Amino acid sequence: MASTPSAVPALEAVVQAGGDHVAPLLERVERRLVEVAGGHGPELAEHAGATIAAGGKRLRPLLVLLAAGPELPVPCYEGVLNAAVAVELVHSATLVHDDVLDGAELRRGRPTVVAVAGRRMATATGDLLFSRAFAELARNRRTDQIRVLSDASSALARGELLQRADAWKAEIDVDRYLARCELKTGRLFEAACRLGALARGLATDALGDFGRHIGLAFQLLDDVLDVTGPAERTGKHRGTDLLDGTVTLPLILARERDPALAAVSLRDVRTPSQAAALCDRIEASGALRSARSHALDAVAQAKAALPELGARQRDALTLVADGVVERYA
Ligand code: IPE
Ligand code: IPE
Ligand code: MG
Ligand code: MG
Repeated sequence: MASTPSAVPALEAVVQAGGDHVAPLLERVERRLVEVAGGHGPELAEHAGATIAAGGKRLRPLLVLLAAGPELPVPCYEGVLNAAVAVELVHSATLVHDDVLDGAELRRGRPTVVAVAGRRMATATGDLLFSRAFAELARNRRTDQIRVLSDASSALARGELLQRADAWKAEIDVDRYLARCELKTGRLFEAACRLGALARGLATDALGDFGRHIGLAFQLLDDVLDVTGPAERTGKHRGTDLLDGTVTLPLILARERDPALAAVSLRDVRTPSQAAALCDRIEASGALRSARSHALDAVAQAKAALPELGARQRDALTLVADGVVERYA
């Protein structure tokens, strides 16, 4: 499986727990991603191909496979595969666009498309990946599946717009922050789980709830990791969120704990060393422990959706939930 500096340690165990079909299907997902990203002429292949080749944890396709359940009948393989590829393409498109919006330099340990080729190429690359996602899912000829992915994509875009609208506003509250995280991350994890269930003909609600909560936890912990770094581990510079004005839970909670921090304007944080100094102050306030405990609550809510499922599927998804936490331990 593809990996990055921030690979979830328990993923190998998850793949095994999902059943014998999971590893070979993930390899097929990988091959298809390479084909799709490379199949549209050399100009587009360069950056879309590099985005796919840079790897990533492939957590969302894995969730599609796990949501489809153990002992997957062979006739379901194609439908599950198309859905898994589609979800990863939406995710990859979003990351390319997210790096334009966030002005990020590093992604998956490599320079971002926007850093290498500029805003116009990055926008077009993201658009290509995004449109190919729906072309892949359309192979399943299921409007219910298209609806799930398009709803999640709209939510994601709304979350990103909300994040830009709230940029530099250090006074935003926890509820508004959580709503943004659910939109920009939770809903695509939810869609991954729903799509896997739909492709197998299973009930979707419990799996969707699991996905939404685990996605929220994942984003909360990603925001903690932005503060803790280091870049060798995360594939991104420490304090990237602060530098682009993104107000996340660690800062919101640190401002409540440290009155001097509440007086700091993010507009005055302009260099990586200033961002690192602010990260140190956030850490010193104890806010990261508290942010982590919000994430653990979301993991517990995700696990609360699992009892309805069969034992093997439940065990594999429990490992995913534990792996999300372990990544940040
Ligand atoms: C990054 O997602 C964006 C967030 C939702 C925090 P991942 O951490 O899953 O990115 P890759 O695919 O493994 O690079
Ligand atoms: C997650 O937000 C990205 C999307 C869901 C589009 P972040 O901005 O926190 O993700 P990273 O940190 O750049 O990976
Ligand atoms: Mg970002
Ligand atoms: Mg982040």
